Amino acid sequence: MENNKLPVHVGVIMDGNGRWAKKRLMPRSVGHKSGMDRMIALAEHAKKSGIKYLTVYVMSTENLARRSADEIEGLFGLIRKYFTVNVKRLFEQGSGIKIIGDISALPQDVVKILTDAENLSPKNPDFTLVFAINYGGRCEIVNAVNKAVEKGEKITVEQFGKLLYTDGVPDPDLIIRTGGEMRLSNFLTYQSAYSELYFTDALFPDFSDAEFDRALASFAARERRFGGAQ
Ligand code: FPP
Repeated sequence: MENNKLPVHVGVIMDGNGRWAKKRLMPRSVGHKSGMDRMIALAEHAKKSGIKYLTVYVMSTENLARRSADEIEGLFGLIRKYFTVNVKRLFEQGSGIKIIGDISALPQDVVKILTDAENLSPKNPDFTLVFAINYGGRCEIVNAVNKAVEKGEKITVEQFGKLLYTDGVPDPDLIIRTGGEMRLSNFLTYQSAYSELYFTDALFPDFSDAEFDRALASFAARERRFGGAQ
């Protein structure tokens, strides 16, 4: 694929784990476990494809507030497990991790696991997995506005970008949502201004490397104009 036709940054809204499990008469937790396995494999595939940043929406601010304590605790359990094993493997392969979201609201041991991973992450990696957890686009924007207000000066778009969680990460070129819904659900609200969007009915655990490649092919066939003339 020509380099300019390959997205630098892809965001994925990993929807459909619960429905995937339900179809198999299994608990939602099994769906999340399958989703987590798929996410790790997808990160390796994205890296091999030449993508530089893959942002995965693991939990929104709304999920934390509205989903059952059982489901949320299950997701924390998966993070505890995967961050000790799979994330170390990503580091060994030269990949990095960045966390976005308000992690202060998470259990203390999870906060430690996430911040330790970020601190141990290789500097200037070829590929970064951006982990959006207790992330909400609106909260991110309001936090940034409050920081700007504290400074007491008017700021530019570029300066505003540096106050967001995604400081240092280019805006997503492509956002994929699995699971059939066609909305962004508070994901990268500010950064998605010019993102290309791709929606698929595939439930996230079924979203294969080949399906990811189809999304890349769709992206490559699009003309991005950023407000310019055709
Ligand atoms: C937004 O849909 C989707 C997400 C925030 C991703 C949710 C995914 C999980 C909770 C599973 C975590 C992923 C893995 C791989 C373990 P929404 O349902 O929050 O928003 P909506 O109500 O607008 O559809």
